[in-house]
Amino acid sequence: MIEIKDLSVVYQSSQETYTALKDIHLSMPMGGTCALIGPSGSGKSTLLKVMAGIITNFTGTVEIDGQAVSPTRQKIGFIPQNYGLLPWKNVYENICLGLKIKNKQAKIDKNSVDFIMKQLGIDGLGQRYPGELSGGQQQRVSLARAFLLKPDLLLMDEPFSALDAITREEIQDLFLEVWKKHAVSTVLVTHYVEEAVYLGQKIVILSTEPGRISKIIDNPLFGEIDIRNKREFFELSLQLRNFIKEDWSNC
Ligand SMILES: Nc1ncnc2c1ncn2[C@@H]1O[C@H](COP(=O)(O)OP(=O)(O)OP(=O)(O)O)[C@@H](O)[C@H]1O
Ligand SMILES: [Mg+2]
Repeated sequence: MIEIKDLSVVYQSSQETYTALKDIHLSMPMGGTCALIGPSGSGKSTLLKVMAGIITNFTGTVEIDGQAVSPTRQKIGFIPQNYGLLPWKNVYENICLGLKIKNKQAKIDKNSVDFIMKQLGIDGLGQRYPGELSGGQQQRVSLARAFLLKPDLLLMDEPFSALDAITREEIQDLFLEVWKKHAVSTVLVTHYVEEAVYLGQKIVILSTEPGRISKIIDNPLFGEIDIRNKREFFELSLQLRNFIKEDWSNC
């Protein structure tokens, strides 16, 4: 179980203090997925960074199976909003980086890397550097890195935002395939209601000033075959969009 209790995060600079998250309570079973959706500044990236163990200055608790979250204790795959690629390493090295950081002696199975790169449509780019890639290609490199790591917890900050609509749907399907195979507990941030309904077993709506949870939905449609083309999918998406319009206009 991933359990967040009474979580608050306050950023402190010399001029001001800002409460980015206030009284967050959230739990999800291991092996599940959770989609976070919220307006800009509602603390989505902050929440992911707390779960990744990057932000440690918070009050409350964040636990995975009863243990405080920490990158040394759990294998955490984190795809930051700016992809987190190292510009001086080529694509192949960037993909292997997650495994290498976790274990310097890790043996990289070249076939697995090649397979993932092919699935993500970035085979042939192994020798290029991030600066020589489009935004969507960089995003796929960071996904390949996370998929290769097979983490205990996968955290993705707007992982598909730079992809065109068709590629986005393909990579969403690929994500679900990988997720089904490994049942990786995943939290992803998205700005798209349809993406939240397609990929989130749990959908969490945040609002801002200060960042807090305004609704949690256990998604009844998650995992249904060919759901994107069904009436219920459009209905739930519309319902959520209307809730969000109302909720965010009060922010
Ligand atoms: N290091 C920091 N110091 C001070 N304030 C910060 C810092 N990082 C973020 N904030 C503030 O905290 C709030 C939440 O930021 P966060 O990046 O978590 O939002 P977000 O929901 O991810 O937004 P977006 O959708 O634009 O990515 C914002 O108001 C932001 O300005
Ligand atoms: Mg963000």
